[in-house]
Amino acid sequence: MDFFVTHQTADHYSGDCAVAFVFKDSVNENRILQALLELNRFDSSLGDSLMLSKVEGYKTKRVLALGLGESPLNEKSFLKALKSLSSAMADLKVKNVVIPRIQVNSRDESWVQLTIARVLKNASYQIEKVGVVEENDDDVILEAVNIYSENNGATEISKGVAIANGMALTRKLGDLPSNICTPSYIAETAKSLATSYKLECEVLEESDMEALGMNSLLSVSKGSSEPGKLISLSYTNDGNAEPIVLVGKGVTFDSGGISLKPGSGMDEMKFDMCGAASVLGTMRAVAEMQLKVNLTVVVPTVENMPAHNASKPGDVVKSMSGQTIEILNTDAEGRLILCDALTYCAKFNPKVVIDVATLTGAVIIALGKHHSGLMSNDQSLADDLKVSGSSAMDTVWQLPLDDEYDELLKSNFADMANIGGREAGTVTAACFLARYTKDYRWAHIDIAGTAWLGGSKKGATGRPVPLLTQYVMNQIKD
Ligand code: BES
Ligand code: MN
Ligand code: ZN
Repeated sequence: MDFFVTHQTADHYSGDCAVAFVFKDSVNENRILQALLELNRFDSSLGDSLMLSKVEGYKTKRVLALGLGESPLNEKSFLKALKSLSSAMADLKVKNVVIPRIQVNSRDESWVQLTIARVLKNASYQIEKVGVVEENDDDVILEAVNIYSENNGATEISKGVAIANGMALTRKLGDLPSNICTPSYIAETAKSLATSYKLECEVLEESDMEALGMNSLLSVSKGSSEPGKLISLSYTNDGNAEPIVLVGKGVTFDSGGISLKPGSGMDEMKFDMCGAASVLGTMRAVAEMQLKVNLTVVVPTVENMPAHNASKPGDVVKSMSGQTIEILNTDAEGRLILCDALTYCAKFNPKVVIDVATLTGAVIIALGKHHSGLMSNDQSLADDLKVSGSSAMDTVWQLPLDDEYDELLKSNFADMANIGGREAGTVTAACFLARYTKDYRWAHIDIAGTAWLGGSKKGATGRPVPLLTQYVMNQIKD
């Protein structure tokens, strides 16, 4: 799928299909089109579509009317409309299309162009079935999308495509089963990103981590036959500026360990590496755009399994920071690998550290599947992430981090316990991490609700790659 900027209005385009956006409360300039819409009782509800052929005034063979509901159009409705558009185009086997100008709230044309490219490209993602070679059915694939612009929107479009490409990597890693997507597989993926985009890559093996005293991380991987890894990947394009550091939880399968999870729905715990996948996807997007920033991603990756040599409830470990942890529940493993990775991050002299993790089931109870949970020790960082999230339509909702919550981590046998009890599970998990991030500006994004969908739409979403990439883009000083 290729994207182009066109300076021709939709009625001048002579290809397969032109899109016509239609609002409930306005009449189309093309009288014939308007009459056809009325004849077909098209009521222009948001996301409704109607394909018409040979409409006078258009040079294309077909015109795809897309309902936008009541004007003015806001970001959420626009996103919904674009999703309907891409499924309508797939159903109707549209080969090439022109999309006319559209105003979305107070967003500028650049935002609209980037968003169209990102959403349409992302919608073309297909799950790769294990062992199945997809036949390329040439005549059903959308080849060219022409976006109308008075200006040259090519760079905005290429940014949208780069974000979708990052999301595709994230989704692919998330969707792969855990017998393929192991910690070693994630390390190989990072190495191949390093080769493609000339990044610096380092993979610490378990013996290296032992030497660094990362006993908390190692306590999670020791019950698995898959060796754990700590990956760091650096992109340098802004001299010796302090890097933005993104840390992603990479539990390739979370069985719960000795505190075993219930069987139903356990397959979805292959998605417990979506934090890792999303920071790698963000790296891909940033490197593809060649943004003028320094970005490092750090990925602790392990498999959490029950075994004779796995951690047991009550075990005490000493983390790299020197703080000791009583492991009251082996299923609260994400924080155990993240705390050592967060301590390790200090060596990059970070401008900020943002960790991304499918950390708690509690965040799904609190926020559902719409917003990711956000917690931070720095309000201006939290605010920047909120703005980036709204702009990318990949939103976060901030939760508090008061000392009262931190007190719930008290242990009689170590500096802290790894769980805080039933209440405020998302916040106590973040309070645990906050004990390892005191030396820098830090934010934590809990994506347990947003990284994947269950049910008939089961699959990784690619979130929060749009949010993270937008955040990185917003840090460029011009
Ligand atoms: N990976 C899970 C969190 C999770 C659960 C994500 C369900 C998505 C859906 C995490 O490792 C975990 O098991 N957390 C526990 C923490 C508890 C033991 C304090 C949880 O949320 O139940
Ligand atoms: Mn767990
Ligand atoms: Zn987990």
